[in-house]
Amino acid sequence: MKFSLEHCKSINQNLLPIPGLLLAPYIETLKEVAEMGDYSVSESSINVPFDEDIVRKVENLIAEKVTDELQYVLLVGIGGSNLGTKAVYEALPQEMFRSRTLLCIDTIIDARLHEAQTIITEASTSAEILIISISKSGGTTETIANTEIIIDLAIQKWGSEVLERVVVITDEGSVFADTAQTKGIAVLTLPPIIGGRFSMFTAVGLFPLAALGVSVTELLKGAQEVRRQSLNPDIMVNPAAQSALVAYQCYQHGQMVHDTFVFKPELESLGKWYRQLLGESLGKTVEGEGDTARVGFVPTVSVGSTDLHSVAQLYLGGPARTLTTFIHSNITAHPHTSPAERVFPELAPMIAGKTTTEIMEAILQGTKTAYNNQSLPFMEIVFDDLTPFELGAFMQFKMMEIMYLGRLFGVDAFSQPAVELYKVETKKLLVR
Ligand code: PA5
Repeated sequence: MKFSLEHCKSINQNLLPIPGLLLAPYIETLKEVAEMGDYSVSESSINVPFDEDIVRKVENLIAEKVTDELQYVLLVGIGGSNLGTKAVYEALPQEMFRSRTLLCIDTIIDARLHEAQTIITEASTSAEILIISISKSGGTTETIANTEIIIDLAIQKWGSEVLERVVVITDEGSVFADTAQTKGIAVLTLPPIIGGRFSMFTAVGLFPLAALGVSVTELLKGAQEVRRQSLNPDIMVNPAAQSALVAYQCYQHGQMVHDTFVFKPELESLGKWYRQLLGESLGKTVEGEGDTARVGFVPTVSVGSTDLHSVAQLYLGGPARTLTTFIHSNITAHPHTSPAERVFPELAPMIAGKTTTEIMEAILQGTKTAYNNQSLPFMEIVFDDLTPFELGAFMQFKMMEIMYLGRLFGVDAFSQPAVELYKVETKKLLVR
């Protein structure tokens, strides 16, 4: 994974070390958290990729629940409880999954529940499915409603023994964990201090991905490597701190939209994983002396080149309010070539004989040049290849970037008090 700022025109790189001084004490704090290696503070998620106990528990349960018969992982969970898994699953080449399919059931959609029902109805044995219900709090209406409905469908087919095909992942000591255990359902827990959107490398992300056949060891190696780099006190070689400082400078210059512009459709969910991380972590009300200020980036995701035909006019010609991060990879599993002998030779003549990689590369370069010409700031992340290692590295990079941004914005990056506002109102309506 390569991270580059060279096209961030509005950024004065000479200024980076100055706000960087603001981060110096926080880098020290994070280094102390890493040295402690425990789960005593909100930042402790940086220790998760090194926690062998998590991996051992995940692997033991995989050995118990996953056989060659497994075909469908039905993942019930929302927000921090499913976005990371979905992102990695969609970004990796599908051949990696040994013909296993992930079905994510997050919001309450009858069509999705119907898909789950069809999978259950058509399965020859319950070993073909694994129902994984993830809720850190155990109290999210959507997740609990979907879990109950899907388990009920499975019980109707196989009886209550099918509870052996259910795994619950939730906070240690939660009611969800206790109740699941009394019903004989396998439970994996995460330390309560680890926030949902920072929980990717706990059982929340590792167990479903391992069930699908992903090497979680590689995912964690990528995360470990980036944690090392992102604790470096030298800002200029610390990718997470540097990216945070650039984003912060842009925000101060009025770029309050952060667009993750992925140039591979299979990375859209990775963009959405980051959208939650950025949106929930920084979108806060800061209490000042006698006044309050609402801060935060508006996080968006665009997919190239499709969305150039829907939002490029706005980004290139409308208000210059957007900081963009282009994310791409040149690796294509099955490249095609535009034929030399063509049916429409007078249309787009320059594509004759070009590979799809060459055409997309030209579109991306053209887009970056246009952004440059309009003085629109952007960063760039290039995946050397789409592997678990690279994705683990990216996710750790972004989680630490957000910690640094939280410090620069002066907000608690680990809370989400406003998410509760809708959850509480929903529950009030449903008890009537
Ligand atoms: O990041 C967060 O904490 C939230 O987005 C949660 O992940 C989301 O609300 C789901 O919560 P839970 O995992 O408790 O069901």
